[in-house]
Amino acid sequence: MSALTSLPEWQTLTNLASAIKNAHMRDWFASDANRAESMQLEACGLFLDYSKNRVNEDALSALFDLARACKLEDVRDAMFNGEQINSTEGRAVLHTALRSFSDRQIMVDGKDVMPEVRATLSKIEAFTASVHSGEHKGYTGKPVKDIVAIGIGGSFLGPKIMTEALKPHTVDSVKVHFVANVDGCHIHDVLSKVDFEETLVVMSSKSFSTQETLQNTLTAKDWFLKSGGTQEDIAKHFVAVSSNVKAATEFGISEDNIFPMWDWVGGRYSLWSAIGLPISLALGFENFKGLLEGAFDMDTHFTSAPLEQNMPVLLGLLGVWYRNFFDAQSHVLLPYYHYLRGLPAYVQQLDMESNGKQVTQEGEDVDYPTGPIIWGSEGTNGQHSFHQLIHQGSGVIPADFMLPLHVPNQDETHHAMLASNCFGQTQALMQGKTFDECYADLDGKGLNDAERKRLAAHKTMPGNKPSNTFLFESLTPKTLGALVAMYEHKVFVQGVIWNLNSFDQWGVELGKELGNQVLAGIQGEAKEDNFDASTQQLIARFRAANAPK
Ligand code: F6P
Repeated sequence: MSALTSLPEWQTLTNLASAIKNAHMRDWFASDANRAESMQLEACGLFLDYSKNRVNEDALSALFDLARACKLEDVRDAMFNGEQINSTEGRAVLHTALRSFSDRQIMVDGKDVMPEVRATLSKIEAFTASVHSGEHKGYTGKPVKDIVAIGIGGSFLGPKIMTEALKPHTVDSVKVHFVANVDGCHIHDVLSKVDFEETLVVMSSKSFSTQETLQNTLTAKDWFLKSGGTQEDIAKHFVAVSSNVKAATEFGISEDNIFPMWDWVGGRYSLWSAIGLPISLALGFENFKGLLEGAFDMDTHFTSAPLEQNMPVLLGLLGVWYRNFFDAQSHVLLPYYHYLRGLPAYVQQLDMESNGKQVTQEGEDVDYPTGPIIWGSEGTNGQHSFHQLIHQGSGVIPADFMLPLHVPNQDETHHAMLASNCFGQTQALMQGKTFDECYADLDGKGLNDAERKRLAAHKTMPGNKPSNTFLFESLTPKTLGALVAMYEHKVFVQGVIWNLNSFDQWGVELGKELGNQVLAGIQGEAKEDNFDASTQQLIARFRAANAPK
């Protein structure tokens, strides 16, 4: 048994879970009029109703005991203090430094990083102002109208999804287009819409070695040169965000057009760095700063609130409760707000690339489930697609519902309908509909009793399906920053409980390596043919289909 599953706190939770599995939330609500009011939490503009969870006071208390047994607060403080908690890459984990508005020093390798963090923020601010004002001009003297932001993973998801979520705050002077996939359809589709005389390319890659981003940028560069630009003009139309300044300059980006980032910022935690430059260009620097401020507020909450009143801690522990004691395989995010539709995809990388691991910090195989599958989409759309499974499927899928109380240009009828669907879904998931209720509904329908019972069984809704509901006044940059930081810290909490290194991603390396070998095979340049028979036949069919005519 692992250290975790050997803990007495783990055994307590196992015992409590087996007892609670026989209880139904609708009975808890019926017997405790105060349940909803006693299971709510507010922080950083977020209201959380967590009363529709399959926990009682004993279970919550035992979960907080587990957090303490795992020394959660010590590891949290180690992260914020710049200790090298990324134990396989020997790095600090300091995305929190990027949004620190306190005056404390944050030391990495004996050096306070805050001056360079602030200098980069000032560079982002100044560059944004020069583009928006028209001061920054292209090679024919025209101001910038279109931004082509090229990146993938954490160098794409954050900028794209934050910009989309804050669409009501976008500036009129520029339009930002995002390109990620190496599928040429994407970059060519975007480049066909822009005039390079008025276009700026922001190439974002922490490593400056990601195939998709390099190829897309080469294609954009090629397009630029064919459109009349010259090598000397590159500097006016291409900037880069990277921790690999050497590679970026070798690529042809001039050094003063490179926005630095640091190895102590993980890709999926990097939107707060210069990776967020497209956000600043799309929304204006003040709105980008608002994101940082909201995240800083959540950092302050996370580092100061008692565990029992700590939103990321509570959410992380509830996730452990379902993952490890109710065999939940996934967690679904359901933002009831069209502009926030990208949030599930953002949290997908954040959570699954952080905790999709199977060995502990010590390199031992885990003997317990770790990171869940994260998925979801905007409400109400999911109700007409996958909610059937959440309601009547065979497992437990904990759900996070979220709803702004106000939206821009609010149509009262539409917004009331959106809210009523959101709340109605959480109620249906919790209370369900019993066989007896369904059987009674079928009275007088002309069915014999056997048929009536059979149909009632199909219509029965088990309920007891857990959900959290977040409400917030409106989705401002600050609120969004707090929401994203909340999920970052939730993931951190779970990584500590599961004793994982949440900050490396070795699992993505082999695919990249083999992809490059297959590319050589497809392009006929493979040195040796060590592909399995299936891959060989796939390459052969692709080559045959794409052989020069
Ligand atoms: O391959 C995974 C990954 O490294 C992510 O962690 C990262 O966000 C993405 O690729 C892009 O990496 P880069 O910013 O170095 O191009």
